[in-house]
Amino acid sequence: MDCPLPPSTRAQLSAVEAIRTRRSVRAFTAEPVPRETVEFILSLASRAPSGSNIQPWKVYVIAGAPRHALSAELQAAHFDPTDAEGGEEYQYYPTQWFEPYLARRRKIGWDLYGTLGIAKGDKEAMARQHARNYDFFGAPVGLFFTLDRRMELGSWLDLGMFMENVMVAARGLGLDTCPQAAFNKYHRIVSRHLGIPDTEILASGMALGHADPDAPENRLETERAPVSEFTRFTGF
Ligand SMILES: Cc1cc2nc3c(=O)[nH]c(=O)nc-3n(C[C@H](O)[C@H](O)[C@H](O)COP(=O)(O)O)c2cc1C
Repeated sequence: MDCPLPPSTRAQLSAVEAIRTRRSVRAFTAEPVPRETVEFILSLASRAPSGSNIQPWKVYVIAGAPRHALSAELQAAHFDPTDAEGGEEYQYYPTQWFEPYLARRRKIGWDLYGTLGIAKGDKEAMARQHARNYDFFGAPVGLFFTLDRRMELGSWLDLGMFMENVMVAARGLGLDTCPQAAFNKYHRIVSRHLGIPDTEILASGMALGHADPDAPENRLETERAPVSEFTRFTGF
């Protein structure tokens, strides 16, 4: 395996610590992330398994002036009342919500808005907060993950594992991330800016950078159901 650690990288956590401390960060500092660090993270992440080792993931990375130009266009689209550019290519969530997923989904929304002092029903404030997605929450680097459209469901599993590796590898180096399906709504704008061909489907975006330790939204703590709730052991 050829993944030499670039000299600019800082903290290195164990895999357990990196998984334990990974969380979705929604406020980043402007501190840049060098290209070599991003390359290292992607090279490490590509050790992810994939069915028959087909490695179906494709990644588009954006920073600097092009990232700001993309954010400006996305935010304009988000606030456009005609929503002319909006429309997902694939459905992330079920159309009809049901428990326990509905309650969990509501809780994360209320908890996030709670950290920011946004009252329930304050749609304008919620829309403004949602718009922060399109600025990568201030992160200096944005990543977009795509698949060849001809791939089947199995490749989405592979891509998910790859994306998790990206997030854990970043955390292991002292960096933070936020996976962002919010970009999918504006896949046409993203594809135009990144040169993503029609033959690929945008699965998700992701912000990458250094967490702002003073931002209230970064104090959000998410819960998890206990192992006993989602696991059945047999033969122990
Ligand atoms: C594929 C994927 C897409 C997501 N999209 C968004 C998004 O668009 N905006 C956002 O703020 N969080 C997004 N999230 C973050 C989830 O809300 C977060 O993972 C969940 O609440 C658990 O919190 P944690 O990541 O801090 O552990 C996404 C997560 C995943 C896995």
